[in-house]
Amino acid sequence: MAVRIERGELPLSPAVREAVEALNVACFWDRGSEKVDFLEQRPGSTVWLAWDDDELVGLKWGATARPREHHSHHGMVAPSHRRQGIASALMREQHAWAEAAGHRAVTTNTFHAFRPMLLLDLQHGFAVVGVIAHDGDCKLLLERPLGDVPWPPPAAIEGPGWVANGEALIAALRDGASIEGVVVADGGVSVRLTPRSA
Ligand SMILES: CC(C)(COP(=O)(O)OP(=O)(O)OC[C@H]1O[C@@H](n2cnc3c(N)ncnc32)[C@H](O)[C@@H]1OP(=O)(O)O)[C@@H](O)C(=O)NCCC(=O)NCCS
Repeated sequence: MAVRIERGELPLSPAVREAVEALNVACFWDRGSEKVDFLEQRPGSTVWLAWDDDELVGLKWGATARPREHHSHHGMVAPSHRRQGIASALMREQHAWAEAAGHRAVTTNTFHAFRPMLLLDLQHGFAVVGVIAHDGDCKLLLERPLGDVPWPPPAAIEGPGWVANGEALIAALRDGASIEGVVVADGGVSVRLTPRSA
């Protein structure tokens, strides 16, 4: 299967918008029309689309958050096309474009409920840099600097129940742990984990 990745023109044409809304339904059971309206109007809005022939099978959509920071708001791959590297390809395209456009970092947010996306982000160099309460849930704030920056950051504090970002965090999450907090200090970041419940 040859999937091609293209930058989408904004505003979306009616046909592409229809395809984006159908992909939202396949992934989130919702057309996501309000989110599409919101994202089309954000400054620096940039969408990457993955096509299998004329079928839209994935997207990655971000916009400028703060000066020189591209925030990735939305990403998904059709259930029929997962685990084939399509989300990774979209992310590589997004990050290369953001760096060439002069951004210093890409940021994103996610939740434990989206563990595949969290693992994908961590595999592509994001680090968890914050946790905030959101609607009774734990919103995870992630950042990936662009360019030649030493990353992920080292541990801020060490001890049982804490890990640095990077391989140790990925391994713990694969083992079923959850993130319950983050400490940022002295140029380092440590993530507080709750182990998998027995
Ligand atoms: C998250 C998502 C975009 C991944 O798309 P994908 O094209 O299957 O991802 P890739 O094939 O590029 O996977 C790259 C890595 O991500 C991680 N990953 C992806 N899916 C995973 C899963 N189901 N379980 C665990 N890790 C997963 C793995 O580390 C994987 O590497 P590997 O295949 O070598 O193990 C897709 O599962 C999806 O659309 N989910 C629903 C939408 C969603 O949750 N969006 C995020 C809202 S914040």
